[in-house]
Amino acid sequence: MSSETVLICGGAGYIGSALVFRLLKETDFKIKVFDNLSYGGDSVFSFFNFPERFEFVKGDVRTFDFDQLLKGVDYVVNLTALVGEPICKKFPKEAKEINFDSNIRLARACEKNGIKRFVFTSTCSNYGLNETGEMIKEDGELQPISLYAETKVDSEKILLNELPDLPCTVLRFATAYGMAARIRFDLLLHELIRDAWTKAKIYVFGAQSWRPMVHVDDIARGIMLVLSKSDSIKKKDVFNVGSNDQNFQKVQLAQMIAERFNVIIEETQAVKDPRNYKVNFDKVTNELGYKPIHSAKESIDQIANALETGLIDDRILHESVNVKQN
Ligand SMILES: NC(=O)c1ccc[n+]([C@@H]2O[C@H](COP(=O)([O-])OP(=O)(O)OC[C@H]3O[C@@H](n4cnc5c(N)ncnc54)[C@H](O)[C@@H]3O)[C@@H](O)[C@H]2O)c1
Repeated sequence: MSSETVLICGGAGYIGSALVFRLLKETDFKIKVFDNLSYGGDSVFSFFNFPERFEFVKGDVRTFDFDQLLKGVDYVVNLTALVGEPICKKFPKEAKEINFDSNIRLARACEKNGIKRFVFTSTCSNYGLNETGEMIKEDGELQPISLYAETKVDSEKILLNELPDLPCTVLRFATAYGMAARIRFDLLLHELIRDAWTKAKIYVFGAQSWRPMVHVDDIARGIMLVLSKSDSIKKKDVFNVGSNDQNFQKVQLAQMIAERFNVIIEETQAVKDPRNYKVNFDKVTNELGYKPIHSAKESIDQIANALETGLIDDRILHESVNVKQN
């Protein structure tokens, strides 16, 4: 068994639940999940079946003693955040404290404690609005148009330009979709599916806007790849994580869902989507050999089946969101 330990902050969340599953299944790392359980902790129950390799620590990143948390830890993946624009808008002070201040405090503690690699989970939302129609590469212009993206861009700058002794990989994920132990129904593809299921109609605003998509398990596989190649990759680097062929216009996603559920699409012209970006994923493919294995179509079908069989019930559908609708 490996003597190396990966600390996953925010590991009880959507991506965390997929990542811990992959790491326990395919590596021999020991896993320590740290989370304040904002959305509950059911997602980690089954990981206790690996008692030698799994540990859970409850705490809040804003106040926890990181020197204590980092004892015996080799690698750190920070997934902790208030994720998405709605929750950051609702709790701006907490968003800045959790997504930026605590992230940097954690990174500084990692540098001090000689952590071998800090993986920062950023987002393609950083590209904001790009109407050139070109697929944006990692060195393309960052145009954060929400507090959420601002906290990510600000964090990236410090992680990449300061903290000289901290090996750090920034991963800018496309928008996630797909089944995981903690699923979220406040993400683009899942929201469209929920509309199709509950309203028999898919409402799309900004129908022509481009958005890159990636399966949550493919995000987990990307993080796992970085950890496995940590010794040979650059000390500091940035990768977009996704695939060129999963850049979709929102209406294309709606069409796939409409076909599966046999419902109609209603395009709302009144509201424009301020975000529009197509992303280039060549670097992660060429340099790390990364290739997603899942597709949006496959997930639409899986989630449709889960709704039809009651595997995903009303409670999951309406409560698995970071901010509840009134
Ligand atoms: N889901 C996506 O589409 C997506 C895309 C790009 C980037 N990301 C990034 O990936 C990371 C994980 O996203 P996710 O979709 O799994 O989100 P999530 O909301 O499901 O998970 C976040 C986790 O952080 C924990 N957390 C929040 N505040 C905390 C605090 N103060 N102290 C300790 N733990 C706290 C929550 O309890 C939760 O388990 C985030 O950093 C997010 O910005 C996600």
